[in-house]
Amino acid sequence: MNDAATDALALLREDLRDFAGYRSARCERAAGSAWLNANEAAHANASDAEGRLRRYPPRESEALQSALAALYGIPPAHLLIGRGSDEAIDLIVRAFCRPGLDAVLVTPPVFGMYAVCARLQRAPLVEVPLREHAGEFEVDLDHVAACAERERVRVVFLCSPGNPAGGMLAAADLRALARRLARRAMLVLDEAYIEYADSASMLECGALESNLLVLRTLSKAHALAAARIGCAIGDPGVIAALRRCQAPYPLPEPSARCALAALAPAVLTATRRRIAETRAERTRLARELARTPGVRHVHASQANFLLVRFDDADAALARLLAAGVVVRDVRAMPRLGDAVRITIGTPVENDAVLDALRARTEAA
Ligand SMILES: Cc1ncc(COP(=O)(O)O)c(C=O)c1O
Repeated sequence: MNDAATDALALLREDLRDFAGYRSARCERAAGSAWLNANEAAHANASDAEGRLRRYPPRESEALQSALAALYGIPPAHLLIGRGSDEAIDLIVRAFCRPGLDAVLVTPPVFGMYAVCARLQRAPLVEVPLREHAGEFEVDLDHVAACAERERVRVVFLCSPGNPAGGMLAAADLRALARRLARRAMLVLDEAYIEYADSASMLECGALESNLLVLRTLSKAHALAAARIGCAIGDPGVIAALRRCQAPYPLPEPSARCALAALAPAVLTATRRRIAETRAERTRLARELARTPGVRHVHASQANFLLVRFDDADAALARLLAAGVVVRDVRAMPRLGDAVRITIGTPVENDAVLDALRARTEAA
């Protein structure tokens, strides 16, 4: 193991460094014809005609592990599959932060699960607010590094494209931050929306620093939110440590099957076409919203949503709801008191957004 990898493993909670985790019956790779070691039922459920669900699934689906590794261009040992990236976020906080001691750093306004998982682990939360520059939000990376160095920060969460504003971070800046935080903190880069962006994933920009973990998901661009498949990608030693903290049988068999089907070449081609359509709709909706009276600002977005500021967000929300259009009210988030986040839908759904908001001015 090289020095850098050892450094990243040294960031793990000390009490978990020699933790083997739960050894389930499926870990026993014995050969046999009568499998009586996991207290599974003797017969399939009457509703399970194909008998696929009677047995616990394997610890990992090797086929899915290989298919996701191929999709992301990394070796399979660098990948942990979880129940959505939400599970990966939780595992990372639990594996690296000692309750009451090691802090989690977030950059509000940002995806709320990082703070939720910190709270559940009783990890102190350090907030470095996004700064506003020329009407857009950006991460103050120098401030992030300085706070991480000053406070006892063990995990830094960054999101690119960011949720809810949709801005990107540059790969070179992220690499420099990871290097600056080496031996001090894990840097977690959440790329849940990267497929919608103009620029490439960090995974395509060379080998990752050992204290850098990238999160990816099939919930967004691959349209499999209900299957709950997300990944943490990084140093194989760190990934193996996270796996030891994960619950046994983490992947429901039907979900693994759906995910594998979604990674077949023909399906990936269709997914890429859908992504292109969503990107085109994002451009159209942003342009049309910017021309809509009452809209104060549409944030530049690289994701499948737009953060939109209104002169009167209350009225805009009421108009949308009355038209049956449900959007995300983000006004409780810091500095977003006039904002709403709108997911890019189908062209018909996006037209419904525009019609509802324009009806407001015609009626006025
Ligand atoms: C930035 C970000 N990360 C992670 C997630 C969770 O994704 P998953 O469905 O893979 O748990 C979301 C979901 O909205 C998100 O916005």
